[in-house]
Amino acid sequence: MPSLLSCPGGLIVIGVIYLFSVNIKSEIWTNEVSDVQFGRLGSRVTLTCRGSHGGSPVEWRLNGSSVQPWQAQISEGSLTLLNATHSMEGNYSCHDDRGTLLQTIKLRLGHQPHFVHISCRVPNHNKIYFSWTQTKTTHLPTRYISSYSTKIGVVESCEQDNNGENECSITNPPFWAAKLLVNVTEINPLGSNSTIFKGDVLKLLKPDPPEDVKVVQVDGLPTQLLVQWKYPESWPDEMTGAFPLKFLLRYRPIGSSFWSSLETEENSSLRIMDALAGHLHQIQVKAQDALNNYSQWSEWSHVVEARPWTDSWDEPTAEPFDIPFVESFPVRATDKSPDSSADQNGNLGLLVLLGLFAAITVAVLLTIIALLWVRQKKQDIVKNQELTSMVKMKSVPI
Ligand SMILES: *[C@@H]1O[C@H](CO)[C@@H](O)[C@H](O)[C@H]1NC(C)=O
Ligand SMILES: *[C@@H]1O[C@H](CO)[C@@H](O)[C@H](O)[C@H]1NC(C)=O
Ligand SMILES: *[C@@H]1O[C@H](CO)[C@@H](O)[C@H](O)[C@H]1NC(C)=O
Ligand SMILES: *[C@@H]1O[C@H](CO)[C@@H](O)[C@H](O)[C@H]1NC(C)=O
Ligand SMILES: *[C@@H]1O[C@H](CO)[C@@H](O)[C@H](O)[C@H]1NC(C)=O
Ligand SMILES: *[C@@H]1O[C@H](CO)[C@@H](O)[C@H](O)[C@H]1NC(C)=O
Ligand SMILES: *[C@@H]1O[C@H](CO)[C@@H](O)[C@H](O)[C@H]1NC(C)=O
Repeated sequence: MPSLLSCPGGLIVIGVIYLFSVNIKSEIWTNEVSDVQFGRLGSRVTLTCRGSHGGSPVEWRLNGSSVQPWQAQISEGSLTLLNATHSMEGNYSCHDDRGTLLQTIKLRLGHQPHFVHISCRVPNHNKIYFSWTQTKTTHLPTRYISSYSTKIGVVESCEQDNNGENECSITNPPFWAAKLLVNVTEINPLGSNSTIFKGDVLKLLKPDPPEDVKVVQVDGLPTQLLVQWKYPESWPDEMTGAFPLKFLLRYRPIGSSFWSSLETEENSSLRIMDALAGHLHQIQVKAQDALNNYSQWSEWSHVVEARPWTDSWDEPTAEPFDIPFVESFPVRATDKSPDSSADQNGNLGLLVLLGLFAAITVAVLLTIIALLWVRQKKQDIVKNQELTSMVKMKSVPI
């Protein structure tokens, strides 16, 4: 049997196929009030003309046009579609030999209900939510009956909201009674089908992630970060302390693929003591029921980024790539859309570098030229001196 039931985590799911029959005559359910007839796609569907008198021939029309003999079997005031398809839906009418309208029947075709796919959510001790989706589109008006039981023989209603969503919820469930059986029955004019969901409430419990996660610098301490958060909105008992949560915090300098983690039982804040000085860090928190080891951890909160306090005289290092464990660069796992500021910083840096390089080159060239000029000057002076001395020598009378 395909697994049609799903719920996160260590849940025992047993699908029980339960076939039961509502009083439905064959496969057709006639709604006499509006003369709608429902039939199963791909099956034989028979329409009966109530106004016809035994034996007299009737003419059938679909959407006003005559139904031809190759389209259906017509006999004794009834019309039979051998293999109903969507194109055969519409307004049928039967008429006597003078063309007088005897009856109209609107035919709607679809499928019998199949199992549904049930998922559940238990964000706290007071509420269990179930939702379900069809595993086969039936094309027909559908309603659901949802119930649950925690004890054999005691069935209670799983309340559905009236907003048309396929959802029901249990308020104040008998939490410690652990085993829960939920029965969602899909009903349409062609039949019904029940899907049973079996789960362990303790294992289904999964809080929403902690909210309002904030990370602040600790003045004067370049390797510390103070992380604060709030209980999830859906966990109502923070004040009373009746249902404490425990928390797991994880953090890493951006660029590292390794998370460090810290756990806390009571407090809604924690101090990271070994942050990497000068570096931007990513921080996330998740929660679990502190008293129930079988329950699930929440999802991680959104990523928050923060840099520890830095001495403003100490320029923050611009080269984050000099630490060994930063070598393997994963894609930044941030919830934020990739921002371009880092990129822009990079471009700016490149520009500055190019500028510096150009300046240095010019300076070096100028220096060389100056040196050459000076040397030339010196040589000239020496030559001049030599010349003058030679002239002098020449002029000296021997
Ligand atoms: C079928 O009948 C209904 C009411 O009897 C009418 O509203 C609808 O337009 C009809 N459709 C066609 C295709 O004739
Ligand atoms: C009924 O019609 C459908 C589509 O035209 C076809 O796939 C199917 O095989 C038919 N079934 C029978 C029993 O003829
Ligand atoms: C008759 O009308 C219905 C809409 O009311 C349409 O879906 C159906 O295809 C029509 N059938 C034919 C044979 O024209
Ligand atoms: C319920 O649905 C399953 C498939 O999802 C089907 O095999 C079964 O026959 C259906 N039961 C009834 C009573 O229609
Ligand atoms: C599921 O609910 C339906 C509708 O109330 C009921 O007829 C059926 O017996 C229930 N199935 C089980 C296994 O309890
Ligand atoms: C919780 O906070 C209090 C003060 O607010 C502090 O004394 C205590 O050590 C903290 N406990 C943990 C586990 O961090
Ligand atoms: C939960 O786990 C902790 C540590 O793993 C253990 O000390 C504690 O006894 C467990 N509690 C239950 C109810 O299993």
